[in-house]
Amino acid sequence: MKPPPQSPDLNQIIGHRYSRRTLLKGSLAMGASAALPGLLTGCGSALDVEFAGLSHGVGADDRVDPQHTANPFLRWGDPLTYDAPDFNVYSQTAAAQELQFGYNNDYIGLIPLGRDRLLMCVNHEYTIPHLMFPEVGVDGDGRSDWPTVTAEMGQIQLAAMGVSVVELFRDAGLWRVDLGSQLNRRITARSSIIRMGGPAAGDPRLRTAEDTSGKQVIGTLANCAGGVTPWGTYLTAEENFDDYFFGRLDSDREADNYQRLGIGDEDSCSTRAPGFMPERFNLSADPNEANRFGWIVEIDPQEPERPSVKRTALGRFKHEGAETLVNRDGRLVVYSGDDEKFQYLYRFVSRDKVSKKREENRNLLDHGTLSVARLEADGKLYWLPLVYGEGALTRDNYFYSQADVMIECRRAAQFLGATPMDRPEDIQPHPTDGRVVVILTNNSDRGEDYPVDAANPRSGNPSGHILELTAPRKDHAAAQFGWQLLVQCGNPSDPESGASWDATGETPSWFVSPDNCTFDPSGRLWIASDQGSKWTRSGFADGLWSLGTWDKERGRARRLYQVPVGAELCGPAFTPDGKTLFVAVQHPSADGTDRFADRTSHSTFNDPATRWPDFDPDMPPRPAVVAIQHRKNRRVGG
Ligand code: FEO
Ligand code: CA
Ligand code: CA
Repeated sequence: MKPPPQSPDLNQIIGHRYSRRTLLKGSLAMGASAALPGLLTGCGSALDVEFAGLSHGVGADDRVDPQHTANPFLRWGDPLTYDAPDFNVYSQTAAAQELQFGYNNDYIGLIPLGRDRLLMCVNHEYTIPHLMFPEVGVDGDGRSDWPTVTAEMGQIQLAAMGVSVVELFRDAGLWRVDLGSQLNRRITARSSIIRMGGPAAGDPRLRTAEDTSGKQVIGTLANCAGGVTPWGTYLTAEENFDDYFFGRLDSDREADNYQRLGIGDEDSCSTRAPGFMPERFNLSADPNEANRFGWIVEIDPQEPERPSVKRTALGRFKHEGAETLVNRDGRLVVYSGDDEKFQYLYRFVSRDKVSKKREENRNLLDHGTLSVARLEADGKLYWLPLVYGEGALTRDNYFYSQADVMIECRRAAQFLGATPMDRPEDIQPHPTDGRVVVILTNNSDRGEDYPVDAANPRSGNPSGHILELTAPRKDHAAAQFGWQLLVQCGNPSDPESGASWDATGETPSWFVSPDNCTFDPSGRLWIASDQGSKWTRSGFADGLWSLGTWDKERGRARRLYQVPVGAELCGPAFTPDGKTLFVAVQHPSADGTDRFADRTSHSTFNDPATRWPDFDPDMPPRPAVVAIQHRKNRRVGG
């Protein structure tokens, strides 16, 4: 591979990076892209946050920095239209749930429709029967007692997963749901018809008894993080889809493919709950159905009559997200991590340029090159193209087409020598400056299956770390990038932790297990955390932190928001004016609540550790989207 030009030193170029010309060129003026108001004013402190931040803590309620407000305004079960039934948690139906806001909100994608109006797209990742239904208890590990989940509850849960599209308007500074919007709808795991697009569409490995064409599938599952395209469509990432398949696989052809993804594990929720999933998820009955999940799905929130499409050119694995950027050459770049221990970082570059005419981008994501990353100890990163017929991706290794390469990305990436990472979560390109932030949440097995390396430097990595990639000359299609560590998470006062934060060796508020992230319209980085039931190690709840990336602030974290006990935080998304930050509080009362306060038992519907956000004795805890705003109508974070 040809040596690349010298990567720019980010700390040297900050002074002239944010010129007005650069920003205007970098922010494509099409629907989803945000302008950078703080920087356009030439304000020298635009990258500094101005809030004191919260101390560490955990509680039944959420908590926000005192200069801000936090309003949980959209909750599981809330009707999405005037015709939708009111939520009755004691007599749920699948039909009602398909008209109501879903469960366990994750990624939030915003598509501005005007200054005070936007479309909010929200993922609903998974369900928790013992917090949704009064009849379902927990086992000794705090997991749902799946054998007591009925087929009817199964249908309700399928309806509670997928995506919500909700039109919001701002009234007297507050965001509200427009219940009259024709655009409000659910895309669910239960009934939505989704087309397959790209190189694997129609492939024999995607054909089933119900769909002999291999071009159409019912439902999208395990919708974790995602992205928004510059033409205002929504990308939802199918992550832990393996949990929904059951039965025995009798196909030799798919054995390695499914084993690499954990499909067919006897511990899956669908194995434990007979009748939960439809028969097509039975591997014995239909060995190919699982090849139709694990993709990025493109949804058009503005034209609901258009079918959603699984874009197979972006590969099949446990996609965490799909953050996008228009490259300097006009092509679309999509970054996506495969969230499992020792899996990889991926980048898709479209073949064609993004058009200003929306309709011309309709199948842009069906053509392009998916690559996987190899990170070297010298700070270089090589993007290795996953192209059938090139290198090891040939018949000799049982790849017979580009469809095979896309269906089995993990195996193909391993053949190319990609770097196994410590559970890649969000990968977020800065909108203009050529950096890409990579979140690696943790990996308790690092040092066992694979040794530590420069990019994954801690054995048994319990706390996670964050990398910064650098696209040379802001060319996100380049074959070679640079990379460096931004922070190693953990307690800076514990020398055993191996944590590294800012240059002082301290930080106002450290965190562990980073997960989702975003840049605000001023270019400041924000990190959400997910410790799972291991939050008791740190002793504090998950939440949202600002994380400095420049000069003396580099590596300094401050906590803006704290979730209620048992929750993780997802989907940080800023409005284009930076004055509202939407966050998704997922699974309140779920994780590790047997060790909260004076509790000794796991939470259930009837006995939860918190009833956030309603605190109504007749209502269980409800996942909800929260709007955070500054009390003085300033940008969030000051
Ligand atoms: Fe659904 Fe990797 O978080
Ligand atoms: Ca996540
Ligand atoms: Ca993100």
